[in-house]
Amino acid sequence: CGDEERMSEEEMEKVLKTLPMEKIPEGFDLYFYEGHWYPSIFFYGIISFQQHFKAQDADLILATFPKSGTTWLKALTFTIANRNNYSFSESPLLTRNPHDLILFLEDEIYGKNPILKLEGLPSPRVLATHMPHSALPTSIKDSDCRVVYLCRNPLDVFISFRHFAVTVSNTHFDPSLIEESFEMFCRGVSIYGPFWDHVLEYWKESQERPDKVLFLKYEDMKEDPISHCKMLAKFMGLPFSVEEESQGVIEEVLKLCNFGKLKDLEVNKNEKNRNGHPYCMFFRKGGVGDWANYLTSSMLERMNKLVEEKFVGSDLNF
Ligand code: A3P
Repeated sequence: CGDEERMSEEEMEKVLKTLPMEKIPEGFDLYFYEGHWYPSIFFYGIISFQQHFKAQDADLILATFPKSGTTWLKALTFTIANRNNYSFSESPLLTRNPHDLILFLEDEIYGKNPILKLEGLPSPRVLATHMPHSALPTSIKDSDCRVVYLCRNPLDVFISFRHFAVTVSNTHFDPSLIEESFEMFCRGVSIYGPFWDHVLEYWKESQERPDKVLFLKYEDMKEDPISHCKMLAKFMGLPFSVEEESQGVIEEVLKLCNFGKLKDLEVNKNEKNRNGHPYCMFFRKGGVGDWANYLTSSMLERMNKLVEEKFVGSDLNF
């Protein structure tokens, strides 16, 4: 990815100093850049990705707002794409975390310490990002490459992130921070926020270019995984054949990527990623509605009002 052309870290620091900054209670510095709040740790990778990535028509980009089910989507797409390369009992997913099989563009590929160069990577490439649609490199929008977007109820996203953040920062969950954190989330100040803009941008794109952008909801996938798995495979250009369906291949894919199955694997229970963070942080409850254990009815009311206001006229709801 052309290291020599990249902006230096000093230049990047200079840019950061010019941007509005807010610190969320969980300890992350967020910078407001071109309408979105980005974590300082990914800023270098975000700019590099924007400036240098050249999409190929066969690429598949997985896009999510953080804590919307990225890990599950990575596991599913990896398994669908490789179902003829590995038997289910020999899948790399059994020994590696999904985030090490499908990498984030703004982190492992264009971040400060990249671990993968795109040159020479066989096509079709499956890559991931948390970037909002409006901030994607133009080549993604101009090419024929496909994008799968997975979204999730903002309340579960909010709570899931709180838990994730304490693991990353090696602290304890502090319920007294929820109120301030929630207030910031509602103002749009959250990692890759505002949440609404993130979701709406991909939603609109999926309405305008349904053959190029597939919009999925975590809750719908939980409710009807089989039809969503079929939809995903079809969108990827790798539909399940009648024979595969009758042999139960879809069920096998779902079984391998199932929350409980992945959570219980040795790698995800006891191993750590390259930053020293335990892989178990990606597997908490894996359900719908855990927010109800943390948020008050007035918070719910506020969120419902916001959702109504922000998504008015879009046919999108949670
Ligand atoms: P909870 O914190 O609510 O349990 P991301 O992968 O985008 O970081 O999102 C993490 C959320 O997805 C966590 O939610 C996590 O438990 C859940 N998750 C991880 N793997 C999953 C899977 N295979 N199926 C369903 N949910 C999963």
